[in-house]
Amino acid sequence: MSSSSSDSIQDVDRRVQDLLAKMTLAEKIGQMNQQNASEENAAGYLGDDLRAGRIGSVLNVSDLATVNELQRIATKESRLGIPLLVGRDVIHGFRTIAPIPLGQAATWNPELVQRGARLAAKEAATRGINWTFAPMVDISRDARWGRIAESFGEDVFLSNRFAEAMVKGFQGDDLRAPDSIAACVKHFAGYGASESGRDYATTNIPENELRNVYLPPFKAGIDAGALTLMTSFSDVNGVPATANRFLLQQVLRDEWDFGGVVVSDWDSVRQLEIHGLTPNATESGFEALTAGVDMEMAGGAFITHLQELIAAGRVSESAIDAAVCRILRAKFLLGLFEPGAVCVEPDNGAGLVTDEALAVSKALATQSLVLLKNDNGALPLDERTLSSVAVIGPLAEAPYEQLGTWIFDGNANDSVTPLAAIRRHLGDAVTLTHVPAMEHSRSRYSERFAQAAQAARESDIALLFLGEESILSGEAHCRADISLPGDQARLVEEVRAQGVPVIAVVMAGRPLTLGNVLNQVDALLYAWHPGTMGGEAICDVLFGLTCPSGKLPATFPNAVGQIPIYYNQKHTGKPPTPDTVVHIDDIDAQAPQTSLGMTAFHLDAGYLPQFPFGFGLSYTEFEYADLNLNTEQLEFTQILEIAVRLTNRGERAGTEVVQLYVRDLVGQVTRPVKELKGFKRVHLQAGESATVRFELRAADLSFYGRHMQPVTEAGDFQVWVGGDSSTTLSRSFTLTAERSH
Ligand code: BGC
Repeated sequence: MSSSSSDSIQDVDRRVQDLLAKMTLAEKIGQMNQQNASEENAAGYLGDDLRAGRIGSVLNVSDLATVNELQRIATKESRLGIPLLVGRDVIHGFRTIAPIPLGQAATWNPELVQRGARLAAKEAATRGINWTFAPMVDISRDARWGRIAESFGEDVFLSNRFAEAMVKGFQGDDLRAPDSIAACVKHFAGYGASESGRDYATTNIPENELRNVYLPPFKAGIDAGALTLMTSFSDVNGVPATANRFLLQQVLRDEWDFGGVVVSDWDSVRQLEIHGLTPNATESGFEALTAGVDMEMAGGAFITHLQELIAAGRVSESAIDAAVCRILRAKFLLGLFEPGAVCVEPDNGAGLVTDEALAVSKALATQSLVLLKNDNGALPLDERTLSSVAVIGPLAEAPYEQLGTWIFDGNANDSVTPLAAIRRHLGDAVTLTHVPAMEHSRSRYSERFAQAAQAARESDIALLFLGEESILSGEAHCRADISLPGDQARLVEEVRAQGVPVIAVVMAGRPLTLGNVLNQVDALLYAWHPGTMGGEAICDVLFGLTCPSGKLPATFPNAVGQIPIYYNQKHTGKPPTPDTVVHIDDIDAQAPQTSLGMTAFHLDAGYLPQFPFGFGLSYTEFEYADLNLNTEQLEFTQILEIAVRLTNRGERAGTEVVQLYVRDLVGQVTRPVKELKGFKRVHLQAGESATVRFELRAADLSFYGRHMQPVTEAGDFQVWVGGDSSTTLSRSFTLTAERSH
């Protein structure tokens, strides 16, 4: 079967119907079955099922010879020769690893993230992969959850932009191009709201919050063309997502009209029984299929039980046909039926780790770095003033750890570590002493701490490389205490006591609580897990070759007990203010009940975060002034034009991420205290000024109201512009007419 590149959607649908008409029921159900092919000799143990048309897709195989052989059997030795979807977790790079998605979100640069995804797709395609299980678009307000690393953080608007960027990057301009792979927005929906940040735990999310917070990034990814969507493992409001008809039918198919493939998560159909939703695998298959799952990832409930459900008249063949059509359609749209399309020529690795991939990975890493503290201009360093440097800590030379979570095809041998980059940068002119001091990030105090202290004492400056190993974040890797693990805080203290300036670089898969180290260091650069080129990116920023521009995509709590803490919270009826907060140490003995402020704060942690959403310092100073609106009375069809004067008041060029926030002061459901509605990266030379402009339309102010419909309400709004979510530079306007739509 072949199709020309001028195929229209109608042509594709006709081809799908032609093919469907030739299929037996068993072959149809086979298309709905995705099999793990990660074990050795996959072609051997899957061969018979492939020949019989019992497999529509495989995952977790990236050895080209094996992929080609699986495709050869499927296309040449099965009755209808239907090619396979070959799925893989290409999450933040394939072989060339970019920063974890949370780090990529800190760039606030969707164009660059799109380029990174494009290059990841190109690399993956050289191994016959035609489908990535990415992007993960789960909103995460909980840094304990290990998968916050795979997310774009806490914000809806920012996640929407990155969802679109990654989908477009993976899928490219032409889905049929050999280097385009299908994207998969996951995990539908609400997975990031796991109770206490424990992976797979229950989620309970009111419908209004689902619609206003958790669902929009999926819609954005779908609107950008995502061919597929994955269900979540979690129980959502009492019905696991993989069997949740409200999500999969009402929202996804009926309201959004999604025509792509819904794949379960790994074994999540069979797990419906473990959840206690169904008594056995037959019923699990029934629930998942009738809710709207098209393809089962691993598990085997569909392939084993769908025939009996049809025989019993409980499932109609038309329901099977609908699922199979969506799967075949995706295969046609990807061009997999083109002659030779699924047999990829070996390139001996020429398409991997290319100069272009390394350059984009480095640019992403550089822009992801967030400068959180920089007392008295401790950074950037000037090597001309240094004769000796101590490089200390478990992550200075940890090529595997800097890659971060979920990097099946990455290779630590490609990594440029901070130690290697700094060594290369300093050359022989500066003495460099390297003391890891800890075997890994969780190690405890040892005599090696004294070596570290000595190295610091004998150097002009101590550079500390701290954080979490990659295994401490990602799927199933959640933490209840999110401070620096092991005895790292003690290492910092020992080094601090030596009296030299201390610069900390923290690599981690999540926001950490940094209270016990922040006051011990002169500067702190947050590097997430920065990927293959992390070392070079960090070195460039430390030594001022580049000015840091990253901004936090998630709030950093000052105590884990503040979680969930996020900037776009509700106002509450008793909002805290600085003068209502009382600290636990300042309470009088037998103080009367009403003496303690009576507002929404913690006695031991106040209400402010360590660092707000959007925060990040620069080596230069940006000044915001002259915030102006084109009108204070905005009519419904009018565009609100917002302008602000941004000036670089420092002595070097730099990039600022200018952020636009809005508050709807009165709503039929209470509205967040601030919502991000726009951002722009602006590069200014020293002393330069620019007018930065944003536009807002009434539709940008809409939200899901009491009746779960989008509404835009007339009334008063406040607008802020600034360099982070705590900005106070604001104006007001009134939206003068009302409309429901
Ligand atoms: C994860 C998915 C992933 C799948 C395949 C699951 O455990 O939740 O995000 O795509 O495995 O590797």
